[in-house]
Parts: sequence; C-alpha cells; structure tokens
Amino acid sequence: MCGIVGYLGDQQAYPILIKGLHRLEYRGYDSAGVSMISQSGELNVYKAKGKVVALEESVKNDDISGTIGIAHTRWATHGEPNATNAHPHYSQSKNLSLVHNGIIENYKTLRTELESRGYTFCSETDTEVLVQLVECMMDTHKSDLFTAVQFALKSVVGAYAIAILEKSNPDQLICARKGSPLIIGVGKNENGNAEYYLGSDATPIVEYTNQVIYLNDEEIAIMDRKGRLDIVNLQNVQQTPHLHTLQMNLDQLEKGGFPHFMLKEIWEQPNALRTCIRGRLNKEQKDVILSGIIDNKEKFKNCRRIIICACGTSWHSALIGKYFIEEACQIPVEVEYASEFRYRNPVIFEDDVVIAVSQSGETADTLAAIQLAKSKGAFLYGICNVIGSSIARATDSGTYLHVGAEIGVASTKAFTGQVITLSLLGLVIAKVRNTLSDDMYNMLVDELFMIPDKMQWTLENNKNIDEFAQKFTYCKNFIYLGRGYNYPVALEGALKLKEISYIHAEGYPAAEMKHGPIALIDEEMPVVVIAPRQGMYDKVVSNIQEIKSRNGKIISVVTEGDTIVKEMSDYSFVIPDTRDCFVPMLAVIPLQLLSYYVATAKGRNVDQPRNLAKSVTVE
Ligand code: AGP
Ligand code: GLU
Repeated sequence: MCGIVGYLGDQQAYPILIKGLHRLEYRGYDSAGVSMISQSGELNVYKAKGKVVALEESVKNDDISGTIGIAHTRWATHGEPNATNAHPHYSQSKNLSLVHNGIIENYKTLRTELESRGYTFCSETDTEVLVQLVECMMDTHKSDLFTAVQFALKSVVGAYAIAILEKSNPDQLICARKGSPLIIGVGKNENGNAEYYLGSDATPIVEYTNQVIYLNDEEIAIMDRKGRLDIVNLQNVQQTPHLHTLQMNLDQLEKGGFPHFMLKEIWEQPNALRTCIRGRLNKEQKDVILSGIIDNKEKFKNCRRIIICACGTSWHSALIGKYFIEEACQIPVEVEYASEFRYRNPVIFEDDVVIAVSQSGETADTLAAIQLAKSKGAFLYGICNVIGSSIARATDSGTYLHVGAEIGVASTKAFTGQVITLSLLGLVIAKVRNTLSDDMYNMLVDELFMIPDKMQWTLENNKNIDEFAQKFTYCKNFIYLGRGYNYPVALEGALKLKEISYIHAEGYPAAEMKHGPIALIDEEMPVVVIAPRQGMYDKVVSNIQEIKSRNGKIISVVTEGDTIVKEMSDYSFVIPDTRDCFVPMLAVIPLQLLSYYVATAKGRNVDQPRNLAKSVTVE
C-alpha cells in the first residue's frame, strides 16, 4: 500500500517528511517523492523509483528548505513504477503539486477532456489527471485552491486521499479523502504556533503529537500557520473537526493495531476484495469488465485450452480457477506447477492461452514458465498484485489484484484476491463464449458481489479460535480434507499451517482417504474437513464417519445452521451459505486464522517464518 505525509509549521519540513516516509515503508511501495515550498518561494518536487533512501540520495545537492511540504510512497496502480510516475505530480503551470493514494476510476475520461482543453501530461498515472483537473477548475472558475479542489473532486469517481500545495500560498496546506485513509495531526510548538501533520496512518505523526483528526470520506481540510483548520464536505458545508487522542505506540500503529501483518491482512480481506472488484463487477448492469480482456476477447473466444502456471498458494487459487472456468466456460483448463512445466518440454499450441498467477510477479519459476510458453507462440495473461512486476511486464495482458501490499510471507488476501479475480475472468470468458444462461450469469454476478460482506461475517462469527488453537500446539501432523472446489482449500489450509507453525500437514481430496491416508488416523491426528452445505455434503459426512470410527479428531468448516457435521465435530467453524464455486473465499478464512493462532501459540515468527521468502526470485 502507499502512503502520504504532510507538514505545515515552523520547523524545516524535509526531515519530518523523510522520517514520515520511512515510518510508512512497512506498507510496501515502489517509489517515493517529496515536495516543499522553499524559503525562496520555489515549489520543488523531488522523486525517485525504489526506496526512500534512493530519494534521499537523489536530493543531496538540491534545495530542500521550506517549512511546508508533502510526501508520498507509491504503490503503483496506473503506470509503471518509475520516477516520472512517482508522486508528487506538478500541475501544468507548476504552481501546484499533489500526492494521491487510491485509484481514479474515470481518469481516462477526465484526461481526454483535459487534453481537449490543451492540458498536456508527462506521466501515465491517474493522479496527474487529478492535479491537472484542480488547476483546470482554478483556471475555469477563477477560484481559490480550496474551492477548486471541491469542484474537481465532485467530478472524480474512485478512491482518493490527497494533499496539495500551491506555490503562491506557502502558508496553507489542503487535503481530502474518500475511500483512502488520511489523518491530521494537530500540534503546537514551543512558541505556541500551530503545527499540522498529515499521515495515511498515525505512524508519521505519533512522535510529534497524539492529537489527531480522522478525516471522513468526502471531506476536504484546509490548514494555515495562524491555526486555521476548516473542514468542509463536497457541498462546502462546514464539518466539525473531532480531536482524538492516539493510544497506540509506533509498532502497534504499523500493524493497524494487530500484533502481526498476517492477522491484519486476514482481516483486510473484505475491503481488499471490494477494492479488487471495484469498477470491474457492476451489480446494477450485471456486468463484469476486465480491461485486460477488452482487446483480447478473440483469444479467449477461440482458444481450445487454458493453461495456468503458478507456485505455492497461487497454484491453489489457480486450481479453484480451473474448476470454475471449466464449469462456467466449458473449456479445458490445465493447472501446472511452474517449476515442473518449465522443464518437462510441455506441448504448447499457438492458440493456447497461458495464465500466470503470481502475487509478487517475480517468482522465477513462474516467469520462466511463461517465457517458455511465449517462445511457443501462446497468448500470455498475467494475474499479479505488484504493478509493473516482471511477470506483469512479460505477459501480453493481464489483471492486477489491487489488494494492496501483502507484507506477511504467508499469503492470505492475495489468495482470496486471486480467487475472486479468476472468478471475474471466468464470467468474462463465459460471456464471450456464451456458455452461461443469462439467469445463471446474473445470479453468479449478484452472489460474487456479496462475497466481501460474507467474508466480514465469517471473520466476525468465528471467535475464540485463539483459545481453541492452544489445544493443537502439541500435534505433529494434521490432515485437511475437501471435495470439489474445497479440495484446493484443503491444500491451502495445510500449506498455511505448515509454513508458519512448522507442523506437518497434508491436504487431500476427501474421497482419497480410503486409498491410503486413512491409515494415519488416530486420536493424535486432527483432521480438518471442509463440509459446506453446497458440494457433495452427504459424501463428506460419510468421510467424517470413517474418520470418527477410527478415533480421529474432527475440526470442520460448516455452513451456518448446520447441525449434522457440527455434532460429529470436536470443533466447527461456520461460514455463510453461498454458491459452491464461491465457498473457497469463505472457507479459507477460518483455516488462515487456525494456522495463525496455532503458530503464535507455538511462538513462531508468523510474518517471517524460517527458511521462507515473500518472493522466490531464485530457482
Ligand atoms: C504462500 O503463503 C507462500 N508464501 C508461497 O507458497 C507463495 O504463494 C509462492 O511462493 C508463490 O508466490 P507468488 O504468488 O508471488 O508467485
Ligand atoms: N493510482 C495512483 C498511481 O498509480 C496512486 C497509487 C497509490 O495509491 O500509491 O500512481
């Protein structure tokens, strides 16, 4: 995720801004920049690709004076991670500089309109459109900056947190938010003068003041050195600022109050998936729009096969994608471990579509696999989370997850983001190949739209997992079972437990038990069974009976209201009812939480487990 820092007061801004950017580094980013109004009245912008230290290196000989400034760490969504696309962005006249967190959905329309009015652009970002729009509003309405920002934001569709400077007004700082967080720190220096700080969260602010105002959606704030702090909504109606006293320390703040990034990211999933489908899944028009497909419809219409290459958790989401795309689109889908695919001289046809699924977009085996496919003429499609990553750039087209930076090594929100993105892809392909009835298509669109809310319900209705998990810290082995769409969930649940608690765990298709694994069952062997009402429920009940009769312990994931499996289980997690193809996005949540709490009970380093890297960029 990205970050914003701002300062207005009597102190030199640059040290506060840079320190604030370092405080925000934990959120993940690809470039950084600062903008100050210098003592001589110049509006300077400095920015660099890569880490904050690269930015510091780049400004060594520049004028970094000034007691007002804004700064930004970018998590690219539109435009490669590079210095040109980094923030802050100047307006055309260079009288304004702006930083932005979020996505301007209608930036293309706005940019076309601005270009028709003679505005030119130097970056590929949606953000530059915003600062040009503000300048256009000032030019058109002959208004001050505060009013122009209100006009501009009324035309914007999407999410934003912004801060903006005006060269001719070095005593005022303006900011606004909608859908992306922004906090105002309110301080006083030893002279009793007002000091204002901005932060995407409180980490850049907490060492200067514990008095903060959480800006609300569609609010715009203006601050000045005389202590003015006015907040209005988009209709220019005054809002009452509410001061809060920060209770958390720095370490707690970085993790949003959670003890680990992994737990924070598990709980982020509902909002992460809302961001993922925003602008792509239109409930009213019952439509799914993936920009990566618009110009490639024929590839998906005419291909005879889809191959998905991935590793680890991404391979599990790919398997779920296979089940859904085959069912919805009647097209064969092969899921390949990239490390195997790249070396076994696979048969690849020119009309194949090869999809790479990768959170980091840097996994060496997956990158090599698609380069092999490219050499054989296949069409490549990437599903990545990191914008501009190697795999994203190596594919012919693709869809970004937009779930924000995933810091924990164990993948959670990226997994469910991959699953919902593959569901969107399946719906688009089904439309192109006309393989779903309108009723079924519309029903799937409606149900998919409800999944983030159902994920929230699942998170809130499975309490005390931390207490329950304590009982299993002694275990040496776990088995995870699922059928159909839930077999990949069993694999994913087992991997989560393995990689962060170091307890051995295996996932199997539930019906496979009698072909060997059932020999493992005894009272020491916890068996996790995914048994939703949808999807071969009766057969899973039989599998559970087989295990119970051999004294196996049953931990089940059941649909809310289930009694049969619940009574057979030593412990049950509950999920809301949904279509079988969407159960994985819900059923995986209790398994993520179970692995987290078992691992923390064993004192493991949950965010950086031993021997693992967040991105396996080597073979
Ligand atoms: C998942 O929790 C692991 N961190 C690992 O299996 C990961 O999914 C795998 O290395 C693939 O990474 P990618 O999605 O970035 O390609
Ligand atoms: N959408 C903007 C960009 O891609 C802002 C991304 C962010 O939130 O950092 O530059």
